[in-house]
Amino acid sequence: MRKEDVNMYSISNRRYTGSKYKLLDWIEKLILENCEGDSFFDVFAGTGVVSAHMSKHYKKVIMNDFLYSNEIIYKAFFGNGEFDKAVIEKYREQFRKINPNRLKDNYFSENFGGKYFSNNDAKIIGKIREKIKKSKRSLSDREYCILLASLVYSMDKVANTVGHYDAYRKIKNIDDKFVYELINPEKPSDKFSIYRMDANQLVRKVKADIAFIDPPYNSRQYSRFYHILENIVQWKKPKLEGTALKPQAENMSEYCRSDAPEVFADLIKNIDVKYIVVTYNNTYNSKSSSSRNKITLEQIKDILSAKGKTTIYEKRHQCFNAGKTEFDNHKEFVFITKVGEDDGK
Ligand SMILES: C[S@@+](CC[C@H](N)C(=O)[O-])C[C@H]1O[C@@H](n2cnc3c(N)ncnc32)[C@H](O)[C@@H]1O
Repeated sequence: MRKEDVNMYSISNRRYTGSKYKLLDWIEKLILENCEGDSFFDVFAGTGVVSAHMSKHYKKVIMNDFLYSNEIIYKAFFGNGEFDKAVIEKYREQFRKINPNRLKDNYFSENFGGKYFSNNDAKIIGKIREKIKKSKRSLSDREYCILLASLVYSMDKVANTVGHYDAYRKIKNIDDKFVYELINPEKPSDKFSIYRMDANQLVRKVKADIAFIDPPYNSRQYSRFYHILENIVQWKKPKLEGTALKPQAENMSEYCRSDAPEVFADLIKNIDVKYIVVTYNNTYNSKSSSSRNKITLEQIKDILSAKGKTTIYEKRHQCFNAGKTEFDNHKEFVFITKVGEDDGK
């Protein structure tokens, strides 16, 4: 690694609800001890840290998430397209020279300035997004994704939030903090297949040896939590509403609704793999209704057992907590199902 690469973002440098970053070693050990195969399918990949960590063990890795911002991040880090490092570094230098005092307000600063970012930072972020859009034709696909994912990481780092965009902190004067820094992409490779699809549709198309399944389990919708990242990546400049400045709802997950058990059962019924690895935590006893689980541990166990021999592993874990929720005895579970093997019931 060169000296100037030290500050570049790696894939885990993001705040993300439900990220399994802290559980990676445990998950890796369980999978290596209990599952065999050449291909790994991360059905609800989120940040992508699980795929990134597990990829060294497999010939093929399939990553999926229905958020646009996650897809851009996977393509930036793991795409098979070529990129010229000198080109992306030239853009980094150009973006860093942007002087907000010489900029007019733009869509981003008009909506988010003085709220999620300082007004100067919001002006710079909006300007960089326009520049990336205008440069798209002269960039390779991979370079475009790298520049955009780098913007997502750089803005997420300084956002005036507790880690998601459901609300911003009520502060009078937000400091100017934004620095455009690049992500550190992998060399082009055909190892990764990247999808942005509804998981239940995708499992009908894709086959693999091991599936890793980490869906949302409560009513908090990821597309609402990360609406600003979705907005900057899609850049359709929608009309925004409410104090949190969200656009019209899209990509609302059935896993966050009361029919989640049926949707999960449909996923498991239709998935074509040899091993199924499911993560789960026991927040369904929580006092706050938004963090109460839509599927119970028993339901997961029954659904998986119908597919094959299922073993449950558990571990205590410090969870995401915005201050309201109290979890007694918070535990993380991993279910591993050997598909087709009789559960002995
Ligand atoms: C708990 S997070 C996954 C976290 C991930 N394992 C990690 O370590 O970063 C669940 C993810 O599922 C995605 N998601 C929710 N419903 C989905 C659906 N129906 N199809 C595809 N992705 C979905 C969300 O966008 C979110 O990123």
